[in-house]
Amino acid sequence: MRKYFVIENVAHIISVCATAAVFTLCAATIVAIGARAGGDSANLDDPVAISGGETTFYQNCVYCHGSKGSGGSAKALQCRDMKPDYIFETITNGRIAGANVMPPWKDTFDEKTRWQLVAYIRSLRKLPECDAGN
Ligand code: HEC
Repeated sequence: MRKYFVIENVAHIISVCATAAVFTLCAATIVAIGARAGGDSANLDDPVAISGGETTFYQNCVYCHGSKGSGGSAKALQCRDMKPDYIFETITNGRIAGANVMPPWKDTFDEKTRWQLVAYIRSLRKLPECDAGN
């Protein structure tokens, strides 16, 4: 009776392990597919991506968009909850607003660098100075 109980338990553990293994494999596959589909969009909260984007921003974007994206000859980018895909598309293809033109950057920066810029701009939505106005 007792022996039978043990065997049943082992069988149960094996089946749980098998399920867990399959689950882990599935999860890893889903993450891999997601990362490929969205470029580096999966890492928008990565501090390394954000600081890489900050460096590129200060070298190429600050003269129109201002320090920390506070605005200048173009709209402020800080304190705004813009969708990552919209930011990426704008950086890639540029934008025209009346007489103000933002050039496309797709030939200047590879996808990874553009996603780092997205990460940096997303990080500007929650600056301390954003609370002051609200
Ligand atoms: C020559 C000036 C100029 C430069 C340089 C520039 N932009 Fe822009 N950007 C603009 C203009 C103009 C717009 C259109 C929005 C507006 O001002 O109405 C814009 C729009 C955007 C938007 C969308 C904002 C919105 O309100 O829809 C993002 C995001 C952005 N720029 C990011 C960048 C990044 C990142 C860089 C550097 C790689 C950059 N820009 C460089 C002029 C510039």
